[in-house]
Amino acid sequence: MPVLTTRLTDAGAASVAEAAACLRGGGLVAFPTETVYGLGADAGNAAAIARLYAAKGRPAFNPLIAHVGDADAAQRIARFDAPARALAEAFWPGPLTLVLPKLAGCPVADLATAGLDTVALRVPAHPVALALLRGFGGAVVAPSANRSGHVSPTCAAHVEADLDGRIDMIVDGGAVAVGVESTIIGCFGQPILLRPGGLPREAIERLLGRPLLLPVEEPSSATRQPLAPGMLESHYAPRTPVRLRATGLRPGEALLAFGPTALPGQANAAAVLNLSESGDLAEAATNLFGYLRALDAAGATAIAVMPVPPHGLGEAINDRLRRAAA
Ligand code: TXA
Ligand code: MG
Repeated sequence: MPVLTTRLTDAGAASVAEAAACLRGGGLVAFPTETVYGLGADAGNAAAIARLYAAKGRPAFNPLIAHVGDADAAQRIARFDAPARALAEAFWPGPLTLVLPKLAGCPVADLATAGLDTVALRVPAHPVALALLRGFGGAVVAPSANRSGHVSPTCAAHVEADLDGRIDMIVDGGAVAVGVESTIIGCFGQPILLRPGGLPREAIERLLGRPLLLPVEEPSSATRQPLAPGMLESHYAPRTPVRLRATGLRPGEALLAFGPTALPGQANAAAVLNLSESGDLAEAATNLFGYLRALDAAGATAIAVMPVPPHGLGEAINDRLRRAAA
């Protein structure tokens, strides 16, 4: 369906103003956030949101995150209980999404929330995203700016590779800082971790003073939440098969390494990229999706991945790697 001319612009004030006008006219604009690039549409415009689902090839039962400029704007959309207020105060702007009960008259179109009585909200910590939200003056729904099921984009070139000809604009704000999507917490009962992400679970549990529920532990199915986020099995998937927990390299494989130690067989690898030689998880998160894309292009029989520790940002990294391998 590529039929549009996709304009790639810088992130200067004039381009951001143009992007805001494009959103107001029902257009689709990709823009940087601190986690990954998002594909934005006016959260109140059902026709624009329908175009967004089509451009991504995303099933419409998978709801979108509404991005707003500050917590006050969020409180006009959804009901915050005490834990939600504490989380917003501590971590917004930042890589945290809250799933909350909609307020009556919620301005986010039903199509964007898949008809649920909850809505996902986030205040991104990126100057270009905030300038765009301020310029637009309302909520912007934005999934990651990739074709559905593909690896999330961490720079404008990734967006272009996936969506050129399918969207109106790409605002190039350079490479992102965090590199994995936001952590999603449901606050429609006892706080529940719906997706590990760029804000480590430990920081959230420390603030709340209690462990988060996990989707399998949810006490009542009465809320009937879809097992949210990228919880669709295969997601974040390169075309090349992904082999996890590699302790040695097989012929023809490319290697996604982590840490200072070399693997047996590594010298003959089709390609090698190291998420972080020093074993730094934040550096590994920043590199993850770009390196998966690069190794996917190496013509290898498989991408072997070294073990990554499970704590801190490692939880989100391992989650995305598991889905890439599914
Ligand atoms: O970092 C991020 O979160 C990025 C940037 C662009 O903000 N966005 C992002 O959006 O990752 P997306 O659409 O790729 O993932 C959002 C996830 C979806 O998988 C969806 O299932 C979940 O959020 N979600 C949205 N609304 C929900 C709701 N009401 N209840 C449960 N899950 C919801
Ligand atoms: Mg996504």
